[in-house]
Amino acid sequence: IRQLLKQRRPRGFPPGPTPLPIIGNILSLATEPHVYMKRQSDIHGQIFSLDLGGISTVILNGYDAIKECLYYQSEVFADRPSLPLFQKMTKMGGLLNCKYGRGWIEHHKLAVNCFRYFGSGQRMFERISEECLFFLDAIEKHKGKPFNPKHLVTNAVSNITNHIIFGQRFTYDDSDFQHMIEIFSENVELAASGWAFMYNAFPWMEYLPFGKHQKLFRNANEVYNFLLQIIKRFSQERVTQSPRHYIDAYLDEVEQSATDTATTFSQDNLIFSVGELIIAGTETTTNCLRWAMLYMALYPRIQEKVQREIDCVLNGRLPAFEDRQRMPYVEAVLHEILRLCNIVPLGIFRATSQDAVVRDYTIPKGTMVITNLYSVHFDEKYWSDPSIFFPERFLDNNGRFVRHEAFLPFSIGKRHCLGEQLARLEMFLFFTTLLQRFHLQFPVGFIPSLSPKLGMTLQPRPYSICAIRRQQ
Ligand code: HEM
Repeated sequence: IRQLLKQRRPRGFPPGPTPLPIIGNILSLATEPHVYMKRQSDIHGQIFSLDLGGISTVILNGYDAIKECLYYQSEVFADRPSLPLFQKMTKMGGLLNCKYGRGWIEHHKLAVNCFRYFGSGQRMFERISEECLFFLDAIEKHKGKPFNPKHLVTNAVSNITNHIIFGQRFTYDDSDFQHMIEIFSENVELAASGWAFMYNAFPWMEYLPFGKHQKLFRNANEVYNFLLQIIKRFSQERVTQSPRHYIDAYLDEVEQSATDTATTFSQDNLIFSVGELIIAGTETTTNCLRWAMLYMALYPRIQEKVQREIDCVLNGRLPAFEDRQRMPYVEAVLHEILRLCNIVPLGIFRATSQDAVVRDYTIPKGTMVITNLYSVHFDEKYWSDPSIFFPERFLDNNGRFVRHEAFLPFSIGKRHCLGEQLARLEMFLFFTTLLQRFHLQFPVGFIPSLSPKLGMTLQPRPYSICAIRRQQ
């Protein structure tokens, strides 16, 4: 009876599809939940609700609804839901999944400052350019033969955040670090699986000896222990108030707030936030570049146009800071990849930090809110033929880059992506240097799949590609 009562929608709550007893609408999320949600919004409206095993959840669809909530009511929609899975993994602490309050304010401020101090400007530009060279040399070793670029891209991209967090890069044969990233990224996939939703609805499943949620816990434990060790190693020889990287800066905060009983800086939150920064920075940018490589091999004419622009602007030299504005076509292609591929299709789950009223609906404090970012990028009000790969939609008649309003791959509002600027710079540099040196093509007879592998992020299914050295 408790279960049935839990499933009843609160008064004034947005409508939605009829739920099954006990499990509600969980089964509908088994295949492509973002597509299912967009379709449901055609029936129930841009703001509708689902019952995820007794957890009443509001789904926001389309640019207008998402902007109305996340932007115009930024604080109200800035919380994260206290789901059993998150409680178990990070006790609602850390940075990315922490509650909206003192914990978020302290960790967000520290991370933003560290990204500014260690991760922007000319120095970061040089660091990324240097990593690009390691990356290109590693690709060169395949001598134009087919290879799966996933690991190389992951290693190269993760090294950019590694500079900020640890003050150094890891070599591409560091198997311990790679293993940690691999199981962490497996968890990003598992966190959106039916098992995770079931566990959130029925936390007693923890005691079932089988199920994918157990794998998730084991992985999280292993990642935690690895990070604990590595953080210890990198904080050796620390000099107080003279931080070399994020870990040093964090430990300064711990020391400074030692007498403050309400501080949220702690050993646990250091580990959680380091893990979140690593995975948020790596998984997303890596997937974006893997999609970009796939699309370039699939559309050789577009690849050729990209290369023409690169050759014309750079004339054989490495890209410089100012070159980004001079390469509108590259910018358009990268924007179109972010729009079409929807790296984070449902954003990161939000919650209301107080009772909310939107479009005559009332949403109680603490309600889970899912932002369907995919539906923004496929919103017919703003995009024509949204399912077609067409970089020119980001160019005007004179070939100049034009921004689009309904473009939110990094989300908006208080909890929007903290790494947006860094991610954009990384994508630009990796993409231009890669296509400057290589022509990308699929092995003869290989037809890649465009249907994504599902998870909290969307990634291409594994593919092989040939990188042939270009003559310039
Ligand atoms: C949050 C996308 C790269 C760090 C997010 C969110 C999205 C997103 C959709 C959810 C925001 C929300 O709750 O509405 C992306 C994409 C990336 C990318 C598409 C690359 C193409 C990065 C990088 C970093 C990063 C490079 C840093 C190393 C974070 C953090 C949050 C976040 C810390 C949580 C912010 C908070 O809760 O306050 N990102 N991201 N992301 N991202 Fe990114």
